[in-house]
Amino acid sequence: MEAFVRNLWYVAGWSHDVPPGQIVPRVIAGEPIALYRRSDGSLVALADQCPHRQAPLSMGRLEGDDLRCMYHGLKFAPSGKCLQIPGQARIPASAKVKTYAVAERNSWIWVWLAEPGAADERRIPRSIGLEDRAWSLRPQTIEYAANYQLINDNLTDFSHLAFVHEKTIGRGSKHAESQSEVHEIDQGIVISRWHESVPSTFPNSAESLTDTWTYYSYLAPGIMYKVRALHPVGTADRLAHAAPPEDLEPLYASMNCHAVTPVDATSSRYLFSIGPRRRDDLGGEISQRMFDLANQAFLEDKVMIEAQQRGLQRFPPPPRPITIAHDKGPVLMRRAIERLIGAEALINTAGNQRLELETRLSQTDGSD
Ligand code: FES
Ligand SMILES: [Fe+2]
Repeated sequence: MEAFVRNLWYVAGWSHDVPPGQIVPRVIAGEPIALYRRSDGSLVALADQCPHRQAPLSMGRLEGDDLRCMYHGLKFAPSGKCLQIPGQARIPASAKVKTYAVAERNSWIWVWLAEPGAADERRIPRSIGLEDRAWSLRPQTIEYAANYQLINDNLTDFSHLAFVHEKTIGRGSKHAESQSEVHEIDQGIVISRWHESVPSTFPNSAESLTDTWTYYSYLAPGIMYKVRALHPVGTADRLAHAAPPEDLEPLYASMNCHAVTPVDATSSRYLFSIGPRRRDDLGGEISQRMFDLANQAFLEDKVMIEAQQRGLQRFPPPPRPITIAHDKGPVLMRRAIERLIGAEALINTAGNQRLELETRLSQTDGSD
């Protein structure tokens, strides 16, 4: 059984994936969850399993803000409390459904997997929504038959561009020839770098060469926020290769937001949005071109990553696979996730020991 971090906000889907009046099933890190909206539009996230005979609640019926299981008719409130058992007056205390904290931010639905009381919306990673005033982003969802860490590996190491994407976005890529700056942060990594005097990749660029600044943060479980800014040649030198200041307007810029959500050990859901600044979008033409190219490229990644997953299932990897210089991003990212899992295991062990001690004390109480 694969261990997943539980004290995290996971992206369950786009806001538009859960329209009013529908119950949408999602599996996140091995947990079945049913999502729906109350009549005021706010979201509810319940375990997608009826406490009676474990039928999926997502096959149920909405009755106002409540949900009725359509197997034997138990009705539940958004709080998970059972409100009604047909043909029975007494409702046992155990007849309740687990609930999850859920938030809607920047066009994504975020679910907190651990105890709802510990959910802090300030810990939701930075992202840009589809309605943002500055950016013109288009959304996509790709289902992967692969473990989420393989997708994270791919997104934190751009040396594959020149190979997997040799005919698309990686044509002429210099990523494999030099290293990016990779910095470890609390919940993941930050990668940044300048590429100097490279062919402009912006579709309506008037300049043939630009200095391109790329910055992205990548946080567990797999939330990427990435900006690419194209500046006139010479900018990187002028700034001594430091990050461009906020007030330095680039010639062009593009934004990517990605969310990799583990479904279970061998499947994942991958959401991304991509596009230019609204002012550069030429009525939607540029965002459409960027979106088409990204789709093509991400399907190239999918072919490679799913083949890698199938291979790993048939032929387990050697105990010490080789690592190369470009693996810094993937290695640090996996380490960040391991740290989070390790910290949770420690807390659970301490909690279990305390419980055991309390039980023993209560059993011996008064017997001496
Ligand atoms: S399984 Fe849901 S009411 Fe019986
Ligand atoms: Fe790729």
